[in-house]
Amino acid sequence: MISATGARIVRMLPPEVAHTLTIRMLTYGAGVPAHAPQLPVSTRVELPRSGLRLCSPVGLAAGFDKNCDVPGAMARFGFGFIECGTVTPKPQPGNPKPRLFRLREDRAVINRMGFNNYGLDYFVRRLEKYRHDVPIGANVGANKDTEDRIGDYVTCIEAVAPYTNYITINVSSPNTPGLRGLQDKATLTQLLARCGAADRKELPVFLKVAPDLDADAIADICGVVLREGAWLAGLIISNTTLARPPSLRSEEKSEAGGLSGAPLFQPSTEVLRLFARTLNGKFDLIGAGGIGTGRDAYAKIRAGASAVQLYSLMVYDGPGIAARVARELSNCLAEDGFSSLADAVGKDL
Ligand SMILES: Cc1cc2nc3c(=O)[nH]c(=O)nc-3n(C[C@H](O)[C@H](O)[C@H](O)COP(=O)(O)O)c2cc1C
Repeated sequence: MISATGARIVRMLPPEVAHTLTIRMLTYGAGVPAHAPQLPVSTRVELPRSGLRLCSPVGLAAGFDKNCDVPGAMARFGFGFIECGTVTPKPQPGNPKPRLFRLREDRAVINRMGFNNYGLDYFVRRLEKYRHDVPIGANVGANKDTEDRIGDYVTCIEAVAPYTNYITINVSSPNTPGLRGLQDKATLTQLLARCGAADRKELPVFLKVAPDLDADAIADICGVVLREGAWLAGLIISNTTLARPPSLRSEEKSEAGGLSGAPLFQPSTEVLRLFARTLNGKFDLIGAGGIGTGRDAYAKIRAGASAVQLYSLMVYDGPGIAARVARELSNCLAEDGFSSLADAVGKDL
């Protein structure tokens, strides 16, 4: 396990340097536990629609391992599933640096990375090498300068499908101009029609949405998903937010980009609840946004999620957060008399 001193030193470095160094260290196995931790039995879950069987419902969210360099290492920290990407067909450098900021006082992060990644060929070569029981997902996106945005998703889906356990269509990054426009009714209809026709080897596919959606926009997305997306396994709710809650205290709060971590917990859980109410159990929902404790994960599950993902609070708490959240979640289930996680899904709806 990464030592407490090591983790403190990494956190003293500028955020993106710390991230690059962490990925490099994990690539060489530095600080990676020899075996995955024991995880509580009561939090094992099989997602009903996608059929994914998870030894823990706590997954690693996209953006930490954009190039699929270290999924095996992250599985050893006790994540129940690992999502790599976002990958785009061609490599691209992303936005100018600095583009990643820690909001320490708020336990939050702002990023405007802009889909920096080594491209699909590299990603697929790495994905092919993954040998672990823990399910892996490939999160796909579009190049900034593409002329056929939807075509980029189809290209990525067909390239990753033979080597992954599930795919996520990311239409919700705020850092690629116009990308969130894919959530609009007409464009989303086209996107789902073309991606639905792609050769995806029968894999479960999730649609990842933004938290910055009002009730009408959520109703529109649900309508399109129910009409055109019957082939989808589910939704991931949510990506980062463009909102800046007045409660933010850190100096970096005015940086442009997507905000994640603790201040995203409330709004993303509310959006999850609205989706869950409308979709009424027809799709698997994965909740993300501000999870740092088992109680946070439990709230997302009671709001309709069958599994959760996290990233930002691992920046502050280290990778041991995966197993800790699962253990705390197991305690929450026991306190309320649930013997399995599936029984608690959607209990607050
Ligand atoms: C630095 C950073 C990079 C991210 N990159 C991606 C990405 O490439 N694709 C994506 O779908 N989400 C990306 N995300 C969003 C996360 O996957 C997640 O949805 C969001 O941060 C909310 O979870 P959290 O509060 O636990 O971080 C990124 C988040 C951060 C902090």
